[in-house]
Amino acid sequence: MDASGPDGGQPNERAAALREIAAAVNACTDCDLYKGATRAVPGEGNPYAEVMFIGEGPGFHEDRLGRPFVGPAGQFLDQLIRSIGLERKDVFIANVVKHRPPNNRDPLPSEIAACKKWLDRQIDIIRPRVIVTLGRYSMNRYFPGQSISRIHGQPRRVGDVWVVPMYHPAAALHQASLRRTIETDFQQVRVVLDRLAKEQQAQQAAMPEPEPQQMRLL
Ligand code: URA
Repeated sequence: MDASGPDGGQPNERAAALREIAAAVNACTDCDLYKGATRAVPGEGNPYAEVMFIGEGPGFHEDRLGRPFVGPAGQFLDQLIRSIGLERKDVFIANVVKHRPPNNRDPLPSEIAACKKWLDRQIDIIRPRVIVTLGRYSMNRYFPGQSISRIHGQPRRVGDVWVVPMYHPAAALHQASLRRTIETDFQQVRVVLDRLAKEQQAQQAAMPEPEPQQMRLL
């Protein structure tokens, strides 16, 4: 994965910071979830990703491999990512809780609270322009008290980031009718990215041309 960045920082600086977080997550015992898990799933992807996906928590397959979204829901997520012209290597994927809840039960508020610092730090390092929340639990980080059935697929600006709430991809595996909804909602990520790219082009075009350097005569 290309970890070099355009922000003037040392190449791999962000990758190193993310590795440090991953090591801390692997050793984390701040809630009880680690007791029933095989391994932690800190999250992975491009340290310079423009788009970050936040799921709920690791499932069976993720717990085995230590990687996010590698089971059936992950295969669907990969398809969705490709449908907007991106690859998995372009994005960063993380979860609200980093250890698998027993029998895939919903994460408890205390577990989400204990794990929040890791996700906060990942977001601070990556500074994505777009965050896609997958499911209710990550939606709650940004839109507490809202209902996913009302706000799915509607990008909203939160501070300096666009947040796009989506149904969890696993929902489509349980309820086939949601598949089209998720596919349609996903196109909103492309819409936001195109808009951001246009804004950036317009800003660059408005900047004064740099003075031409005078040729030095020997
Ligand atoms: N579901 C999630 O929310 N996260 C994963 O990593 C896998 C499945």
